Amino acid sequence: MMSSSEIQIKEMVANRWDLASETFDTHAGHGIQSQKERDEWKHAFRGIFPGKGLRILDVGCGTGELSLLFAEMGHRVTGIDISRKMLKTAKTKAEACRANVTFGEGDAENPPFEPSSFDIVFSRHLLWTLPNPKKAVENWGRVLRKNGKVVIVDGVWDRGTLGDRARKNAGALLTLILERKDPRKGHAGYSEELKARLPHAGGAPLEKVKEYLVASGFEEVRTFDLKEVRQAQKENMPLGERVVRNYQYYLICGRK
Ligand SMILES: C[S@@+](CC[C@H](N)C(=O)[O-])C[C@H]1O[C@@H](n2cnc3c(N)ncnc32)[C@H](O)[C@@H]1O
Repeated sequence: MMSSSEIQIKEMVANRWDLASETFDTHAGHGIQSQKERDEWKHAFRGIFPGKGLRILDVGCGTGELSLLFAEMGHRVTGIDISRKMLKTAKTKAEACRANVTFGEGDAENPPFEPSSFDIVFSRHLLWTLPNPKKAVENWGRVLRKNGKVVIVDGVWDRGTLGDRARKNAGALLTLILERKDPRKGHAGYSEELKARLPHAGGAPLEKVKEYLVASGFEEVRTFDLKEVRQAQKENMPLGERVVRNYQYYLICGRK
């Protein structure tokens, strides 16, 4: 059972993403901006889980950008999230492209499914915003079938150093001045109070996530730098974003 403090954190998180839902996909690291980027994502995922018809659970699916990509690749996809507005956007997008994806409310830290329900559990940009990331990874193992895979895409964009802070501020300023765009557009903007309650508020470090996977019994843990995806994303990013974009970004996967 969740403590009242955890419930409160998750309500705050859901509220922030409700507010960001309308602009989330406009951000070049969130919504897929080009055919080249789409192809690079597909290429990266095919290398990890080839074939079609896999049962994929996208935890913290947001606006369903990658859930829909998996459906396009021929998989059977379920996406869960705690933000109703992110889910509403995801459902509208699925209807528009007639994709057969099931979206619903659910806590990624404890997915509401029977053991062994999925071939793949996928998460992107989620671990940093969970109060209990280690427990989440454990529970992803529970809903995976034997030999199923967990696939995580994440990064560290703020290690709390002066250098990171300066780069972030410079990027935001450039976006504002050169592009005349709101640099917060597409982001959730957590308060310091909320950040203090998340163990990886600046991003989940690769080494830590590897530890979580190994501790949960995952085998054949492999990492990828997603260089081609990042390159394709950069081509469509405003200059300010490109400045900020120089941080650890990775895909890590493991087999149950
Ligand atoms: C940065 S967005 C990433 C969305 C999507 N995975 C993507 O990469 O496009 C983080 C998402 O995680 C969701 N989220 C945060 N905590 C969650 C939780 N405990 N359970 C389910 N979803 C959660 C938020 O509502 C938000 O939609």
